[in-house]
Amino acid sequence: MRATSPLLAARHARVRASIDVLSLDALVVTAASNIRYLTNHAGTAGVLVLTREAAHLLVDFRYRESVRALQESPAACPGLKVWDVPASYDEALLGCLADIGASVVGFEAADVTVKRHEYWRSAVEARRLDVGLRSTERVVEEARLIKDASEIATLREAAARLTPVAQAVFADVAAGRQERHVAGVLEAALRGAGFERPAFDTIVASGPNSALPHYRAGDRRLAAGDLVVLDFGGVLDGYCSDLTRTVAIGPPSPEARRLHAAVHAAQQAAIAAVRPGVENTAVDAVARAVLTEHGLGEAFGHGTGHGLGLDVHEEPRITWPRPDVPAVRLEPGMVFTVEPGAYLPGFGGVRIEDDVLVTETGCEVLTRVPRELLTL
Ligand code: GLY
Ligand code: MN
Repeated sequence: MRATSPLLAARHARVRASIDVLSLDALVVTAASNIRYLTNHAGTAGVLVLTREAAHLLVDFRYRESVRALQESPAACPGLKVWDVPASYDEALLGCLADIGASVVGFEAADVTVKRHEYWRSAVEARRLDVGLRSTERVVEEARLIKDASEIATLREAAARLTPVAQAVFADVAAGRQERHVAGVLEAALRGAGFERPAFDTIVASGPNSALPHYRAGDRRLAAGDLVVLDFGGVLDGYCSDLTRTVAIGPPSPEARRLHAAVHAAQQAAIAAVRPGVENTAVDAVARAVLTEHGLGEAFGHGTGHGLGLDVHEEPRITWPRPDVPAVRLEPGMVFTVEPGAYLPGFGGVRIEDDVLVTETGCEVLTRVPRELLTL
């Protein structure tokens, strides 16, 4: 379901509060997910100029009709003014900024390329426009950190729909199947469950490949004794879900059982640590401490989780303290994955991933698929 007009108005108010703090006349929003969040316009192209009074959306011919239909629906964007883009988005943007008289203009540093910024800067200079460009970070992303009621409903539904997808793949996984075949079964099941597309390249990593955290799916055939990491998710109404289970082909070895039990314990401990007020890095530390106790600290080389929403990887990042990752205290309404793993090169690996929603008292696990080591 798309956000209703009142929900969009509340999002605009949150972003406008930041625009005020930054003393901007306008924020140029170029990141597609941020444009969608603020307008419901879901396109591969578009630029939004959010001011205190209006939401100026620049779109080309391809989106004219869909934006018109959107504006006649209960999901209409409040204060929307549509600007036609006959040719160049950058030219249309400069024209819009000049017409509305915005002189202190923020842009999204994480999205605008150096090339695009240089074009804007030199065009402003050459045309003597009264436009000062200011780099901003995390303005819309901060608003997106806490999901509203419509987003939570969609994320809850998206996570729930992974249960039949998991069942379909568990029924199909067997020795002799190629990884790519299994990925195909998963992706067909995602479509069958009503997802519009996979949220990322499906991972089916078998045997030694399961020790490669971001392996995709190749031509290896599953064989008895393998651990198989199945990592998949779908996009529902724009919102992402993400689940990982690790299964065994035939009876797992004692080492495979040990690895799985350690990762499972780390994941449970991390989920139990999720509640309001806790720092993102503290949840990671809990998972890491459990794996370290099991002698697997070195085998866990990635973060414990990532936010989920319009993007499959967004804030909050659940990782160790890093200068490039904002420190975030958990608050009700945040949604993220908890996915510790342990990887032993040459042997194999285990990852277990669920999606959680922070509640007033702890968290709600949105994904519902058994976590024990299944033998298929
Ligand atoms: N599940 C894939 C990822 O988090 O990158
Ligand atoms: Mn993930």
